[in-house]
Amino acid sequence: MNRPDATVVHELLDASCVAALALRGSERVLDVGCGYGELAAAIAVHSARVLGIDCDGRIIATARATHRASNLEFRAGDALALPLRDDELGRFDLVHVRFVLESVRDQSALLAQAMRAVRPGGRVVLADDDHPSLRLWPEVPCFDSVWGAYLAAFDAAGNDSIAGRRLVALLHEAGAVDLRARVLSFAVASGEPAFRAAIARLRAILSEWRVPIFATRLVDAGELDSALTGLDAFAESPGAAIWYALCHAEGRR
Ligand SMILES: C[S@@+](CC[C@H](N)C(=O)[O-])C[C@H]1O[C@@H](n2cnc3c(N)ncnc32)[C@H](O)[C@@H]1O
Repeated sequence: MNRPDATVVHELLDASCVAALALRGSERVLDVGCGYGELAAAIAVHSARVLGIDCDGRIIATARATHRASNLEFRAGDALALPLRDDELGRFDLVHVRFVLESVRDQSALLAQAMRAVRPGGRVVLADDDHPSLRLWPEVPCFDSVWGAYLAAFDAAGNDSIAGRRLVALLHEAGAVDLRARVLSFAVASGEPAFRAAIARLRAILSEWRVPIFATRLVDAGELDSALTGLDAFAESPGAAIWYALCHAEGRR
């Protein structure tokens, strides 16, 4: 997500994620694990105030330098011990957490922090990946097995490749009510502006995870190379498409 080639994720998903929040313009929003602040800035356009918190101080410095709206603030801090003042605790109308639960070491602790930050009656909105939902058509040789090996490596590194499926359960366990779930799908077809960028993103993930992928022993170097070469051919293929589902859930305190 926090790489230049991740821009495509914002391009494909941010508008539908903001629309799904159904903001009225008066909300005080906390965006937990805000990264470089692209989505926080988009939310700030439709709300009264947004506070973005991320544990990476370097990322927060970049977010501050990049997004300068007067109703947008960035703060360094841990999602598992949110750095909120007494006059902020329990005052947010909306606490938003996208693409963080899949990598956090204690999902329930993050939910407890979110419930503490939101006001009674306010909403906690979670969005996260369900990585196995990724589908390419026409099929790319070896891609599905390599993607499966990547997910095994991702999970072995302490992440959760199916965090998206757990969102409603996590909200329920944290005591949230009025639970709602939806899928925000994205698909991109050959010829659309984001198509090649989406393939570049997949290539970058597989290249970055090359060593852990081999460590799973689920695929070998030949299969990984076939998948990468196949992605290059896929990029040139008219009639090709990438399909993906983002899980999106909310509940009230
Ligand atoms: C994949 S990025 C998502 C950024 C943003 N939420 C979005 O959807 O565009 C995950 C971010 O969560 C942050 N993060 C991970 N664990 C965290 C924690 N315990 N506390 C605060 N931030 C955390 C990372 O530093 C990273 O910037």
